[in-house]
Amino acid sequence: LGDGPLRGVRAVVTSGPTHEPIDPVRYVANRSSGAQGAALAAALRDLGATVVFVTGPAAVPPPSGVEVRRVETAREMMAAVRQALPADLFVGAAAVADWHVENAAGRKLKKERGAMPPLRFAENPDILRAVASGADRPGLVVGFAAETDDLAANAEAKRLRKGCDWIVANDVSPATGIMGGAENAVRLVTAEGAEDWPRMPKGEVARRLAERMAAALGRPLRG
Ligand code: C5P
Repeated sequence: LGDGPLRGVRAVVTSGPTHEPIDPVRYVANRSSGAQGAALAAALRDLGATVVFVTGPAAVPPPSGVEVRRVETAREMMAAVRQALPADLFVGAAAVADWHVENAAGRKLKKERGAMPPLRFAENPDILRAVASGADRPGLVVGFAAETDDLAANAEAKRLRKGCDWIVANDVSPATGIMGGAENAVRLVTAEGAEDWPRMPKGEVARRLAERMAAALGRPLRG
């Protein structure tokens, strides 16, 4: 068994994008690489936590030493998270698609003269919100916010709307190179206020967040 301040703590971490099928060969997706989620799972593991890592089709491999549950869609991710609960800590680092294609085709759509297939979208379950308002709510629930505009205001509004304890917000404007990149600059929003962290490698963001999580769970590194 692992040693460290999070020994005996069960953490569920979502990571990566989701893929929402259009037909058997096409899907709607987003640019999440899964790098920050994988780094966080590794950092929690390093502090001794038991980590269930629920991952969409990410560009980076899952870390070793965690329980990996691979999913494709948001609805599958919701089901996998429900199965993994109860837990002491939930971290929603996945870039979950807000919608799926309601009229996804069972067979490959054919290109027909002039006619583009009409896609109808339906809302996906909000996993973070469901976990934060669930009967078996983990003691610490942390969400992420990827924003291109009004980061501070959107992050605090999101924390309240989702019912989570913390929001880790980052600016994913293309010019930042954060989405798919090696570094991140985050704003940590809690009930006590907000902190802007300097830009640093995603692994370092993960280590610092994991230490803060340990402290919030009453498992500080020292003392
Ligand atoms: O609403 P928005 O997608 O910006 O919220 C981001 C946060 O909510 C992330 O933590 C993400 O993992 C989570 N989320 C979720 N299920 C959704 C949409 C977002 O868990 N359907």
